[in-house]
Amino acid sequence: MKPNQYILILNGPNLNLVGTREPGIYGVRPMLDIIDDVMAAFPEKMEYRQSNSEGELIDIIQQVAAERECAGIAFNAGAYTHTSLALADCIAAVDVPVVEVHLSNIHAREEIRRRSLIGPVCAGSISGFGAYSYHLAVQALLNLADEKD
Ligand code: DQA
Repeated sequence: MKPNQYILILNGPNLNLVGTREPGIYGVRPMLDIIDDVMAAFPEKMEYRQSNSEGELIDIIQQVAAERECAGIAFNAGAYTHTSLALADCIAAVDVPVVEVHLSNIHAREEIRRRSLIGPVCAGSISGFGAYSYHLAVQALLNLADEKD
């Protein structure tokens, strides 16, 4: 990754509540602790954003893509994963690689969660490793960026 570049970790709806939200599925560690750990694990520059709104997530992705300093996005779209053609269109439209991230294994859950609308337009998907899913996604994006340089 070039020295001026960074990786964006982007979370969608309700992921700000991880820690207290359905702990049997998402664990008891607060999301901000998880993000702090991921950021501490890599020397590369990273940023974190979260929004509960579909339109704001689209605006964030469009904006970082236009800046051209974002080398990749580790994106947990939450429930929008399963519903948002608009987010899928946005990911397809920009030139920044996006890795789909999930704490839980979406393929082992209810049928509606087994389908991802964003999966086909992402560089890859990581699902089911809890907090470690974010580490794996960031590592994958760094590898992609290094292959490109
Ligand atoms: C999730 C899985 C989604 O189905 C759910 O709506 C979430 C979290 C995960 O990280 O496991 O909000 O993306």
